[in-house]
Amino acid sequence: MCQTILVTGATGFIGRVLVEYLKKSGDVPRILVRPESDAAKARAMGVEIRKARYNDPDMLREAVRGIDSIIHLAGVTRSATREGYYQGNVVPVNNLLRAFVEVNPSPGRFVLVSSLAAAGPAPMAGEGVREEYPPLPVSGYGRSKLDAEHICLSYRDTLPVTIVRPPAVYGPGDRDVLQFMQLLKKGLVLGAGDIDRQRLSLIHVEDLVEGIVMAARSPAGIGETYYITSPEWYSWDQLAAVAAKELGVASVRKMSLPKPLMRLAGTIAGLAGFVTGKTGLLNPDKVNEMVQDYWICSPQKAERELGFIAKTPLEEGMRRTIAWYREEGWL
Ligand SMILES: NC(=O)c1ccc[n+]([C@@H]2O[C@H](COP(=O)([O-])OP(=O)(O)OC[C@H]3O[C@@H](n4cnc5c(N)ncnc54)[C@H](OP(=O)(O)O)[C@@H]3O)[C@@H](O)[C@H]2O)c1
Repeated sequence: MCQTILVTGATGFIGRVLVEYLKKSGDVPRILVRPESDAAKARAMGVEIRKARYNDPDMLREAVRGIDSIIHLAGVTRSATREGYYQGNVVPVNNLLRAFVEVNPSPGRFVLVSSLAAAGPAPMAGEGVREEYPPLPVSGYGRSKLDAEHICLSYRDTLPVTIVRPPAVYGPGDRDVLQFMQLLKKGLVLGAGDIDRQRLSLIHVEDLVEGIVMAARSPAGIGETYYITSPEWYSWDQLAAVAAKELGVASVRKMSLPKPLMRLAGTIAGLAGFVTGKTGLLNPDKVNEMVQDYWICSPQKAERELGFIAKTPLEEGMRRTIAWYREEGWL
């Protein structure tokens, strides 16, 4: 049945792909934009726009009126302060849920897009994190996403909620993998910590949005948490080999900054960010994420309960991503 779905964070990397997917699937996406949002990007999506501030209950109530379901993607992945993560990742979930329940006598699904960071890395090689493992986040970002999950689950008896935890996401529009590509184009893989040991789960953005929508539609998904991920755990060598081939880079040098040096750099950059008020890529919190060995998770529960299987092979996903970066002049 056709649903009116409110998407938050719609102008972001994943949000734009999700809105396009929903449009094609016959649902009616609406997007919630903030005063700070990129208005041109929002208008270009060609869907109804609801305007709100996450700390304004009246505006939020208006934004969620007449909405069947909400997919909450909005969030902050980089902040110099705990407060920044709290305001960006925790407050919106709390206030949005409250507004949804207040205006809607029988609210539909609320999907929170959380992160593998909420659970933390896997403790050992070959053992991807599963949904039932106790969460052990290693960063302020991860802790804020976990706090948001707890709020979401506290509404479990009032409305159907579902949590999706993606690992690292790549695809057209992503700026994190772009940095890896930019260095690789110069023949360099630059890592932090033990990059020969490290493994990571990845998901192509188009596979992720399909998984999010499957979780949102599935009756089995009510009250549940899922890792939406591809089944492989990649080494940096594998990723570099696939991307280098597509980029036409013949030889690649690998360089890794040892953990103590990374921690020192993170502390200095963090202090600089604190003084200037600018959030850079590096701060002690981000470093703590970067030096972990196993950002890996298991897709088995999503496969079993939702029938979700990531379709995009790495080679194909990288090829499409690099083609997009080139078209846009990013690479
Ligand atoms: N990308 C990844 O690898 C990855 C991995 C795991 C989980 N996730 C999660 O997936 C979600 C979307 O990620 P993304 O990669 O698409 O990020 P993104 O490109 O940074 O988009 C996030 C969006 O959130 C909204 N936003 C920004 N600052 C905000 C604030 N202070 N308060 C409330 N909303 C704010 C903005 O959308 P509007 O301007 O339209 O409001 C922004 O475009 C996030 O919740 C993230 O934690 C991402």
